[in-house]
Amino acid sequence: MHATAVITGGTSGIGRAFARAFAERGYDIIITGRRRKVLEATAAEIRAATGRKVETTILELTDARRRSAFGEFLGARDDVEVLINNAGFGLSAEFDAEHLRRHLDMVEVHVRATLEFTAAVLPGMRKRRSGAIINVSSVAGFFPMPRGSIYSASKAFLISFSESLAMEVRKDGIRVQALCPGMTRTDFHDHMGVSGKEITQRRFLVWMSPERVVEASLGALRRNRVVCIPGVFNRVVARVFSHTPRRIYYRLVAGIRK
Ligand SMILES: NC(=O)c1ccc[n+]([C@@H]2O[C@H](COP(=O)([O-])OP(=O)(O)OC[C@H]3O[C@@H](n4cnc5c(N)ncnc54)[C@H](OP(=O)(O)O)[C@@H]3O)[C@@H](O)[C@H]2O)c1
Repeated sequence: MHATAVITGGTSGIGRAFARAFAERGYDIIITGRRRKVLEATAAEIRAATGRKVETTILELTDARRRSAFGEFLGARDDVEVLINNAGFGLSAEFDAEHLRRHLDMVEVHVRATLEFTAAVLPGMRKRRSGAIINVSSVAGFFPMPRGSIYSASKAFLISFSESLAMEVRKDGIRVQALCPGMTRTDFHDHMGVSGKEITQRRFLVWMSPERVVEASLGALRRNRVVCIPGVFNRVVARVFSHTPRRIYYRLVAGIRK
């Protein structure tokens, strides 16, 4: 039996980089996504490059029945050594009735899917007394934002949940990480409908490649760091903003997000 790494949202960006990195380290891989052609092409590329087994599952994470079926599938396996709850999307929209459906979709994808899949793999990891769970959060988890309320809140939830769970399961030999990337060059901003070019022109932002984000995450996992913020710039910004007096913070962020 080979150790398997499961990565949700493996069709592009950070998820795809994780899949490649774990395959290179000798893991068999299961990746999920919605874009069938991209998913199959990604799997074929990783198989060809690494010789590892790569399984694919088409999975819409807002669909409760499909989520639950995937959870059952994971729970029935006894080889899931790594789970990466990575799938996610951004939304720049006020919290109102008009956008409620998309905000609730985000809760399903970022929060419910993470909880359901984590619960599914924990018994096997506990039995084997080993395993790792990486929940892909964001530096946005440290920054409440106008027009990003549920994105920031769902990512903050993932940080808090990961820290609590890490303390709970440490005794069982299981590691948990909240990965909090800053701006990363992926399909994320295109999917959000924000042109990559437009954001790249904002000079104060520092971008990272998905491969560097994954490298930082794996380094932190080796060192048993629970919260991983890749990149010095992102770490400094997260720390400074977390300690900025709230009244100043609200003015500053409202100004930036005008
Ligand atoms: N890029 C950044 O600047 C940045 C910064 C901080 C945190 N993050 C986080 O990093 C994670 C990965 O994002 P990325 O930057 O790699 O973006 P990406 O290239 O757009 O990848 C997102 C992945 O999530 C999947 N996905 C999105 N919505 C889904 C849904 N409803 N059901 C099933 N799968 C869904 C996508 O699959 P399909 O498109 O095939 O459906 C895709 O594989 C996300 O959780 C994101 O919040 C990104």
